[in-house]
Amino acid sequence: MIDKTQIIDQLNTKSFGHTVFSFDSIDSTNTFAKQLQSNDAPHGTLIIAEEQTAGRGRLQRNWVSPFGKNLLLSIILFPDFGMEKILLLPFAGSLAIADAIENVTGLSSTCKWPNDLLINGKKVCGMLLESSLGNSAQEKIVLGIGLNVNQEEFSEDLKSKASSLQLECGAVINRVTLLRNILEELEHRYEQLSHFPSQRLLNDWRMKALLFGKKITVLESEFSFTATAIDVNEDGSLIIETEDGLKRNIFAGDVSLAYS
Ligand code: BTN
Repeated sequence: MIDKTQIIDQLNTKSFGHTVFSFDSIDSTNTFAKQLQSNDAPHGTLIIAEEQTAGRGRLQRNWVSPFGKNLLLSIILFPDFGMEKILLLPFAGSLAIADAIENVTGLSSTCKWPNDLLINGKKVCGMLLESSLGNSAQEKIVLGIGLNVNQEEFSEDLKSKASSLQLECGAVINRVTLLRNILEELEHRYEQLSHFPSQRLLNDWRMKALLFGKKITVLESEFSFTATAIDVNEDGSLIIETEDGLKRNIFAGDVSLAYS
């Protein structure tokens, strides 16, 4: 099990990762985080597990990860900003993790809207943002992160779409060093979002996104169509142009994307 004192030792943050709940096995770090009372779990609390028995992904999918290989974590946030910026937290999260990956492994990753990270075209990280009401009716946000770190094998159906940092750089990664870096970069991006206009964060995200001008397939429940990705709006929605020339905004809660 990743030891709390190992994480906190040398951690250079104001609040992120100062309170830690660490498990060998849990249903889902996000579910646990949502149930915690605010006074036990202040802003920046980290929940981490070696294994999840009911890990959840976006769009009601499962998130499966072998014991002790990857990073499965949730961070509790009590944002000091409104909903317009809360919607951009996955963008802050993607940038933070991309930076931490680069710091620790030298690998560069690209952001796939809304909140995946890809290396060499394969998914290495996904995020699940959820909210629940805190004690004082303050908005409580749980940012769940699943990062494939040292996983060596993927099932036949995932092989072409998913990878891990170890597979991409050919070396075993120290998960504690990476986690500390993630916490530091996350706090930095959270503060950027809090103190500066959203465009600053979105511009950084645009530079890491390979999507714009590309043909994409949009999957909306059972329905799918091709379009061109144009840009992201300030509310985090994606601007696309359909094949008949219509511009549309699509929202992360409704769709998933595939590159055509
Ligand atoms: C996705 O790409 O669909 C999002 C995956 C998010 C997975 C993480 S693992 C830690 C946290 N706990 C969960 O149950 N899910 C998130």
